[in-house]
Amino acid sequence: MDAIDILMNEHRHIERVIDVLERSVAYGRGGGDVSPVLFERAAHFLLTFVDGSHDAKEGEVFQAITSRGLPLGEGVLAALSGQHVLGRELAEELREMVRAVMRGEKEREEMYALAERYVRLHRGHTEVEEGRFFPLVRRLLPVDVMERVRAKFARIEAAHGSLAEAADALELAFPLPATAPRWVNGGRTHQPWGGRGAP
Ligand SMILES: [Fe+2]
Ligand SMILES: [Fe+2]
Repeated sequence: MDAIDILMNEHRHIERVIDVLERSVAYGRGGGDVSPVLFERAAHFLLTFVDGSHDAKEGEVFQAITSRGLPLGEGVLAALSGQHVLGRELAEELREMVRAVMRGEKEREEMYALAERYVRLHRGHTEVEEGRFFPLVRRLLPVDVMERVRAKFARIEAAHGSLAEAADALELAFPLPATAPRWVNGGRTHQPWGGRGAP
């Protein structure tokens, strides 16, 4: 498994959290009671494991590319770095928004809209990385450089903990809800997440 395999594998784990976030927005908008704690935990995951761990690992790849003076077509690297910054800002905004919702100062819809923006950004970003950036990295970086990058990944992972386990924990704490809450339980709104807090 090389550095790019590790990043691709992390994308699959991050997507599980993104899916939980997306479905929780749909569930909440459909009248389901979604605890803001879910959004708080998701924001924490996005900041600690996406920004702090995954994006930091990709930063090492960016660094390896730029330090070798390698050309990257159409400013793809600059665009991806910019999206990392935007993703961090959105996740911070989401965390603050959740706190405001919990204090009763903001409407849940504002929290849903922010989460939705993050989901959209992340999906488009991942598509560009996997479709354009990663194949380019594999062509441009020699095996020994890829190995050094992978060693740096291990140090980042050790500092933050396992991204995969964090995704597991979040998914387990907030199982995906039914898509149409008003028809569940014979017409009564079933609330699988209502009142389920942090462990
Ligand atoms: Fe990225
Ligand atoms: Fe990525």
